[in-house]
Amino acid sequence: MSLQNFLSALDALQSEAIATLDAASDPEAFEAARVKYVGQKKGALKDIQKQMGGVAADDRKSAGMRLNEVKQAIEKAVAEAQSRLSGGGDSGVDPTFDPTLPGVRPTIGHIHPITQTITHLTEIMGRMGFEAAEGPEVEDPHHNFVALNIPEDHPARDPLDNFYLATAATGTEKQNIEGTRLLRSQTSTVQIRVMANRKPPVRVISLGRVYRPDDPDATHFPMFHQMEGLLVDTHVTMANLKTVLRVFATNYLGGDVEIRFRPSFFPFTEPSVEVDFLWDGNWIEFGGAGMVDPNVFRAVGYDPEEVSGFAFGLGVERLCMRRHGIKDIRDLYSGDMRFLSQF
Ligand code: PHE
Repeated sequence: MSLQNFLSALDALQSEAIATLDAASDPEAFEAARVKYVGQKKGALKDIQKQMGGVAADDRKSAGMRLNEVKQAIEKAVAEAQSRLSGGGDSGVDPTFDPTLPGVRPTIGHIHPITQTITHLTEIMGRMGFEAAEGPEVEDPHHNFVALNIPEDHPARDPLDNFYLATAATGTEKQNIEGTRLLRSQTSTVQIRVMANRKPPVRVISLGRVYRPDDPDATHFPMFHQMEGLLVDTHVTMANLKTVLRVFATNYLGGDVEIRFRPSFFPFTEPSVEVDFLWDGNWIEFGGAGMVDPNVFRAVGYDPEEVSGFAFGLGVERLCMRRHGIKDIRDLYSGDMRFLSQF
């Protein structure tokens, strides 16, 4: 084949291929054109490349150069048609955008380990029929103390042990006046709020923040979380309490967790106990519990001759830290994502 003929065949192929590709109006037409012109096996470009063997040896260099130009022009038309039909082009999407490149991972948030723990505990207790209840974090002395049978001279009400809010009166003697508010020091407040609003039987948990002016160290933080549990019915016993706590601990911590009750005192339970779980061979205190004190029932209008119940309060951070092997409570509230995103 003469160089002249080869070059005009190339020109014809170039105009035809580009016109066809530019005119392709749907993916099928495009694909047919792509196969026809640049297909690896029977494409027109491959065909004409083979014919180059027929061009005189001296002319082959110029033939080859022109072939490359035509090839690039057609490949460019293929790329343009492809991006036009895949939503690039007219739709305003950057045609240089390459959807096959690995993406840039967006920084998304992470659910805080304590929030995860709360969800988990709510789920375990829910399976035992405990419904989640809530109460405010800013409380009045009635719910935080009075209805819980905590008398006025009780050390738990000391301003040094509570975050009283700066109302007109924050002095020791004035704690009870109308309008006094404090950050709740325990979730037992929710027991009162729930019982005051419904009739027995009651089976609730409440998970939330509580506040105490403790100096932060590995096991203390001025804000932490408790899980309160309350069950009121007829003929409730301490054996029921122990069973519920044991089933709970076994589900949350894994294995068959043994439970130990140690005699204790809380104004709102009688008898009262400290609750220990056996963990890695050690008895560890997770909270307090007991049978609801008759005075608490009276304060909410229940008849202690008719109903009985148990209540417990467990430290959520303590549970979370045991389960995940976290050594220092302050890490939970450091805001350090390198720490938090591990959980
Ligand atoms: N509210 C108690 C505390 O914060 C725990 C507790 C709850 C004890 C319910 C008995 C019953 O220490």
